[in-house]
Amino acid sequence: MKVHQIQVGNMQNFSYIVEDEETSEAIVIDPSWDLIELEMVIKRNDLKIKYIVNTHHHFDHTLGNEAMAESTKAPIIQHESSELKHDITVKDGDFIEFGKSKLKVLHTPGHSQDSICLVGDGKIFSGDTLFVGNCGRIDLPGGSAKELYHSLFDILYSLDDDLVMYSGHNYGHSETSTIGQEKKTNMVMQKCTEQQFLEMMG
Ligand SMILES: [Fe+2]
Repeated sequence: MKVHQIQVGNMQNFSYIVEDEETSEAIVIDPSWDLIELEMVIKRNDLKIKYIVNTHHHFDHTLGNEAMAESTKAPIIQHESSELKHDITVKDGDFIEFGKSKLKVLHTPGHSQDSICLVGDGKIFSGDTLFVGNCGRIDLPGGSAKELYHSLFDILYSLDDDLVMYSGHNYGHSETSTIGQEKKTNMVMQKCTEQQFLEMMG
C-alpha cells in the first residue's frame, strides 16, 4: 500500500491517494481543493480510483467530492451517520477493499458524529480525530469532548504503536507520526480521567 499525501487549500488540509501497488487500484481520501494535484498523481501513476472516502462530512474534507466522482466515476463512501450526499455507507468494523489492499473502518466520534479512522498495512488515516501533537476541535455541531475522550483512549490508544499516522491537517511539527510517538508526546493522548479531559478541552 503506497500513500500519496498531498497538502491542499489554505487550511493545511491533507488529501490522500492510497494505492494498491500490485493492481494500481486506489482510493481518494478527503478530496477538497487543488484537485488538479490529485488528478496528476492519478494520471502519473496510472491509477484506477475505486472509491472516494471521507473521514467526516466537514466541507474542507468533502468539497471536491462531486468533481472527483465525476472524473473518476468512483462512488463516495461515508460513515452511516453522515447526512452529506454519498453512495456507500460504512460502519465500525467494516473493511474498504481496493485491489489486494484493505482498510478497516473505526468509528471515532468526537470531532464530528460521523468521524472515522481507517487502519491497515501499518497505517492509520486519522482524519480530524487525531493530529500530530493535537486533536480536532469539539466545538462544531456534532462535536463532543466526551465522545472524543472515548475515541482517543478506548480505540486509538489500544492500537499498535508502530502504526504510521496520516491525519487530516498539517498542524504538527511533522507531516506524519506514529501512534506510539503520539502516545508519548501528544498532550491529548496523555492518560487522564474523562473529567480531566473535559476540563482540558474547555
Ligand atoms: Fe473537520
